[in-house]
Amino acid sequence: MSDATSPPASGKREALRIDRLEVAYGGIKAVKGISLTVSTGEIVTLIGSNGAGKTSTLKSIVRLVPAKSGAIEVLGFDVGNLPTHRVVGLGVSLVPEGRAIFPNLSVRENLDLGAYLNRAPAAMRRNLDRVVALFPRLGERIKQLGGTLSGGEQQMLAIARALMAEPKLLLLDEPSLGLAPKLVSQIFESIVKIAREGLTILLVEQNTRLALQTADRGYVLVTGEIVLSGPCAELREDPRIRAAYLGEDIGRPSRV
Ligand SMILES: Nc1ncnc2c1ncn2[C@@H]1O[C@H](COP(=O)(O)OP(=O)(O)OP(=O)(O)O)[C@@H](O)[C@H]1O
Ligand SMILES: [Mg+2]
Repeated sequence: MSDATSPPASGKREALRIDRLEVAYGGIKAVKGISLTVSTGEIVTLIGSNGAGKTSTLKSIVRLVPAKSGAIEVLGFDVGNLPTHRVVGLGVSLVPEGRAIFPNLSVRENLDLGAYLNRAPAAMRRNLDRVVALFPRLGERIKQLGGTLSGGEQQMLAIARALMAEPKLLLLDEPSLGLAPKLVSQIFESIVKIAREGLTILLVEQNTRLALQTADRGYVLVTGEIVLSGPCAELREDPRIRAAYLGEDIGRPSRV
């Protein structure tokens, strides 16, 4: 019915639709039939502890791991049979867990590599100005090698590099990982700013408190299944979330 050049069939303003996605490694199911949506302009968070299947979900969106079954629509297009570079070409950027910047290239060179979809000098200049305005520290360190940046600065660089491709949908895999609280706050403030500029964001996090403060809606993933979802304002007040993820004693007589 639809191919990569036809407009979205549904007409809905959904940037991402995942329908009954399963991901398996050999015989082990990491993602067990999850469904979720992210509307244009939203920040949606996918939270869950170690091994819940968060990274597997993000990787399957950009087709870095194959889906065993289910469907994924990105910006209205079925990406089921597309190679990764075509999904990226639709306007999706993944900032991977652990950042994966190039340590032996300068900040500027790392950023230039992110711009490979649109290398017109005017566009590169505009995008560079934009990411440096967002992360002034990168501007101050533009000639420094990526590997000499602090962990927080590397995370900024990884996000900035993704933005150089002018994505419409940004996938963030645990941007808070291993960072000091002050830097985490800075990164999350930037994420909110990026969203205000009109980007749609799927934020994967283990830092539940911060993710639920930052996003509009959330999904809770437990061993490959979504067990709870809703507006973050509601999830923050949910006793199950407060007990299991926010470390709050909510007066239960005994732990579940
Ligand atoms: N390449 C792989 N081969 C085999 N098993 C894998 C592979 N990648 C992930 N897994 C397994 O799939 C499950 C989900 O892993 P995944 O990395 O998606 O979880 P996660 O929620 O991102 O965890 P974390 O918070 O630790 O990053 C885990 O049990 C993991 O061991
Ligand atoms: Mg992960």
